[in-house]
Amino acid sequence: MSTPTRTAIVTGAARGIGAGVATRLAQDGFAVAVVDLDEVACKKVADEIAAAGGTALAVGIDVADEEAVATGVARIAEELGDPVVLVNNAGIIRDNLLFKMATSDWDAVMGVHLRGAFLMSRAAQAYMTKARWGRIVNLSSTSALGNRGQANYAAAKAGVQGFTKTLALELGKFGVTANAIAPGFIETDMTAATAERMGIGFDDFKKHMAAEIPVARTGTPADIAAAVSFFASEGAGFVSGQVLYVAGGPKD
Ligand code: NAI
Repeated sequence: MSTPTRTAIVTGAARGIGAGVATRLAQDGFAVAVVDLDEVACKKVADEIAAAGGTALAVGIDVADEEAVATGVARIAEELGDPVVLVNNAGIIRDNLLFKMATSDWDAVMGVHLRGAFLMSRAAQAYMTKARWGRIVNLSSTSALGNRGQANYAAAKAGVQGFTKTLALELGKFGVTANAIAPGFIETDMTAATAERMGIGFDDFKKHMAAEIPVARTGTPADIAAAVSFFASEGAGFVSGQVLYVAGGPKD
């Protein structure tokens, strides 16, 4: 007897790491809800997954909006199946030195990373605990260890780690694991925007960053997707509350 298809939600999946994770989970056999702010942008990734033989649904949700999360997750359950995997990947950066950081930039970063992960996890855990099986994977960052110009983002990404460990403690008895992945430098629009803001070409920026990375290269969305794939797998059921640095070398 074959196992019924499990449904996974990936937020911030219209591009970058999220798109890579959604594609990988579809290859692993999950039906994937491709969630991002703009449903039309999600559609491109969902269509690519479908063209490759997978199952995907494009859903527009602002993860910081309580109402949108409730409606969107209920729609996913109805149209794709009860979600039992959640990857909280949606993210933004609003970098500035502390003395120049606007309150709105602090709030926006907290809103997407922390409030967003909280709202999505609270909505999705209802299906996971009911199924007595679930996997939550949260995107932290090496910036959680502190990074100049990122007081808001570093605090949020450190917060994600505490959030993850607490979910692991509360949900374990329902067969639900929670783990965090803390990427180092990954080639995406987010890091391209950082290069642009610094007035450096992206290729030069990547070369400069790679020189500091023990494996002597920058990371790709596929590197993160491989780690998510493990945490979402059947075999990872005894791994919970962990923070995995996927950064081409050791981190604290
Ligand atoms: P990206 O900027 O390329 O993609 C992020 C996606 O999240 C975008 O499609 C955006 O529309 C979506 N998003 C933003 N706010 C949203 C909201 N309120 N609701 C729904 N979707 C929303 O970023 P990238 O590089 O793919 O990053 C993905 C995650 O990985 C983020 O959480 C980021 O902080 C984290 N990360 C990235 C690193 C990198 O080097 N690129 C390093 C460490 C962590």
